[in-house]
Amino acid sequence: MTVTAVPAVAEAIETVASHLHPRPSYDLADHPVPNGREEVWRFTPLRRLRGLLDGTPSAARLSWEVSLPAEVTMTDISSGAVRALGVPAPVDRISALAASLSAGAVKVEVPSGLALSEPIVVNLSGESVNDLVYGQVVFVVGANSAATIVVHHTGSARYASSVSVLVGDGATVNFVSLQDWADDAVHAGHVGLRIGRDARVRTVSASLGGDLVRLVETAEYDGPGGELEQFGLYFVDAGQHVEHRLFVDHNAPHTRSRVDYRGALQGKGAHSVWVGDVLIRKIAENINTYESNKNLVLTDGCRADSVPNLEIETGEIEGAGHSSTTGRFDDEQLFYLRSRGISEEEARRLVVHGFFADIIRRIGVPDIERGLLTTIEHELEATIGAPTPGAAGERRGVALVRACGVADVPVGGTLAVDLGGDADIAVVNTAEGFFAIRDECSHGAVPLSEGEVEGCTLECYLHGSRFDLRTGQPLELPALVPVPVFAVRIDGDDVLIDPDQPIAIQES
Ligand code: FES
Repeated sequence: MTVTAVPAVAEAIETVASHLHPRPSYDLADHPVPNGREEVWRFTPLRRLRGLLDGTPSAARLSWEVSLPAEVTMTDISSGAVRALGVPAPVDRISALAASLSAGAVKVEVPSGLALSEPIVVNLSGESVNDLVYGQVVFVVGANSAATIVVHHTGSARYASSVSVLVGDGATVNFVSLQDWADDAVHAGHVGLRIGRDARVRTVSASLGGDLVRLVETAEYDGPGGELEQFGLYFVDAGQHVEHRLFVDHNAPHTRSRVDYRGALQGKGAHSVWVGDVLIRKIAENINTYESNKNLVLTDGCRADSVPNLEIETGEIEGAGHSSTTGRFDDEQLFYLRSRGISEEEARRLVVHGFFADIIRRIGVPDIERGLLTTIEHELEATIGAPTPGAAGERRGVALVRACGVADVPVGGTLAVDLGGDADIAVVNTAEGFFAIRDECSHGAVPLSEGEVEGCTLECYLHGSRFDLRTGQPLELPALVPVPVFAVRIDGDDVLIDPDQPIAIQES
């Protein structure tokens, strides 16, 4: 572990009344019922919160299904014990209600010095939108530990949540939150991160379902050297409201933050809101921050609000910036794909897949990555149509044929050859010899021969899936399906292939 050599700074932090963010507080009086004109509520359709602001007590709960590695503990703790842990205080009325009306919290704890090989998975499911549920969960990851935590929301409820992630010094945490709710669910809440000295935290938040989802994610540092990456994706359908509000408080020097949120919208009344606030305090010298939000509007009648804000109290920073884009399909990318004979629909599908694949691959839990890609595929069927099936055709019964000369393909090079089959074959020369693979990515109909060779793998140039040249198996998302590979024989100066006999591939 590298410890950044800067003195402890917690006591030196000045009080800043940030205009970006209300003062956190457990006191409900500090969070009056909003009227919709407040800066932090102006985008939210308050009526559709359906009672989450009222403070009506409720004993309803989501059902829990948990997968915990053996060393991880899960206990119920009181509200007092939650505060004693030093979790970030509630930032709005809904998270304050969740903290006060949830009758304590569930604490999930990873001991110090432990690198978990399996993720912690918490599946939270609701039965009915008639249930008003307050929930509080605290994840504690000890110093120098490493953990992936997944919280997966499904079903239906009106859910006010407060989730805290306390990350010890030198720890590495990957925190994934999936809002995969039924169409009528309403979910609003706060995810508060405390990042220890020299800790590394990545969050991935994916909001796909629900009538209204509004999540506030805040981050603060317990010392210098902390690194934070926040990724997010949302796919908003007709009538749906999805709102993500981020606030990174750079309250310690030598800290870093990166934000990358991407959304797609389709259908009348689809509304997304992304607000990214970063505060750089006086004490936070030599920090680096960048936040980005991109929105892809797939149909008419959608609205994407995107508001990045930076508040800088010191001039001694390494870097700070933000960007925000909202638009339709990238015409250049579409034109490029169309010019390669890819249909308009397939090209659009590929562009959206690539847009999200960059985020999904950060999750690091293959089952969940696959599930999200499948969900996005289903979402796209509504506007773009189903994926074009592979062009698998009838095979001819011929034996080895000359594909090319050995000298035609330098080491590290590829050559597309037409052997009369339903697709070209890419001949690939690597340091380990020649390989042959069908010249079409299994994720989209683009030629693999235009990709990069690395070792015994070939990377698709479009979205970066890498295929094993020995088996055809995809090694990286977004491709999920293997590509046929063929036996190669070198005969003198010639490379010979039997294009009709792909090597049998074992599905992994
Ligand atoms: S077309 Fe997407 S990975 Fe190849």
